[in-house]
Amino acid sequence: MTTPTNSSAATLEKLVALCKRRGFVYQSAEIYGGLNGVYDFGHLGYLLKENIKQSWKQAITTTEPNIVFLDGSLLGAADVWKASGHVEHFSDPMVDCMNCKHRYRTDDVDLERACPHCGKKAWTAARQFNMMFQTNLGAAADQASVAYLRPETAQSIFINFKNVLSTYRVKVPFGIAQIGKAFRNEITPKQFLFRMREFEQMELEWFCKPENSAYYFERWSQARKDFFSSIGINPERIRLRPHEKNELSHYSVACNDVEYRFPFGWKELEGIAHRGNYDLSQHSKFSGKDLGVYDEETKQTYLPDVVESSVGVDRLFLTLLFDAYYEDVVDNETRVVLRFSPKIAPIKAAIMPLTKKQTEAAEKIYADLRRKGYQIQFDESGSIGKRYRRQDEIGTPVCFTYDFDSENDHKVTARNRDTLTQERIAIDQLEQYLDAMLKNR
Ligand code: GAP
Repeated sequence: MTTPTNSSAATLEKLVALCKRRGFVYQSAEIYGGLNGVYDFGHLGYLLKENIKQSWKQAITTTEPNIVFLDGSLLGAADVWKASGHVEHFSDPMVDCMNCKHRYRTDDVDLERACPHCGKKAWTAARQFNMMFQTNLGAAADQASVAYLRPETAQSIFINFKNVLSTYRVKVPFGIAQIGKAFRNEITPKQFLFRMREFEQMELEWFCKPENSAYYFERWSQARKDFFSSIGINPERIRLRPHEKNELSHYSVACNDVEYRFPFGWKELEGIAHRGNYDLSQHSKFSGKDLGVYDEETKQTYLPDVVESSVGVDRLFLTLLFDAYYEDVVDNETRVVLRFSPKIAPIKAAIMPLTKKQTEAAEKIYADLRRKGYQIQFDESGSIGKRYRRQDEIGTPVCFTYDFDSENDHKVTARNRDTLTQERIAIDQLEQYLDAMLKNR
């Protein structure tokens, strides 16, 4: 008997513990006390991230096929970040507690009240803190050698706009997409993977004629909202929220956030921004290079507008965990299950011999499916019930058990993670079974 709960059973503490226990995510430098806001991803975390990235690439290129990819550098010249406005504007307001020296973002504390850490009310005045990590290239630590770790991937796209245009047969409208690391010296990293100091972004800059940018802004906003339900996230916990004028970043004409209802409230998961021609215009001005595009129809050069979609891989990782986490009662025992959509699940299937006697035959099936490229696990230790629970906890959609009958009927028992139903499947049909499972959901 199964009594499913809902995923409101998920708390940050439970997810952090599960991620550590099962090798999804570890605190970086844990054996030295940990590096705040920085995480390492284990095997399952790596696989989950890969599936997230793959789904994103597939989703954007099926929305609009005219998209090329870029892998830009992580270190950025100071001039790039001056032109982009990050040196001047990329800061959060912060305050310090003069008593215990704790530092907060002003929107994280109530300045009418005492410091949550020491209980004294002794705030400094609020001041701006630039969130970029600054470094120096080479041995001379002078102004000329200053560089920054990129706080977003987008600028690599803008500064390569002309390179891409002249080396590929792309024409406006088209997109340049990128997945890569970004770094922000967040004053208060928090909520595990929600606000980190080193994280990954998936960004698309869509270049279009100015007269079409309002249309593409709406089109990408809708497409990006729909993406999240296509990878299995509950659509009732997803909404699109337009920014108020006073919330807009220094570069945006308009912005829609895709928000997810986390246990700690509705929070931004992705931003879709109408950036106008701010970036190309700034880089043209600062570099002295004309980044304009020649229009065959009007016989004039113009700067395209940009619609950006930007989502954090890690924030989406956390969202998927929150959304998929359930605690069910099965036969009076609580099981933890991650109900990932099969295409997102890090492991697609587990192969289990019922007893040691069936190990060799089960291993053969495992090796065959691995060779065909399926991400699967072999599990032979412990009772079958324990093995099911282990797979449920990492979100494996199906377990195939090779049992006493398998040798005669050449079938295995397929046990479904969500319904717990069992059916016999011919061993030579397992590939089709997995393909259908991965295609349908
Ligand atoms: N290029 C636009 C840009 O970077 P953003 O709203 O600052 O916009 C986009 O960031 C997305 O990157 C966010 O919606 C979030 O998913 C992710 N992100 C931003 N800061 C993050 C952080 N400190 N930790 C984890 N993810 C973050």
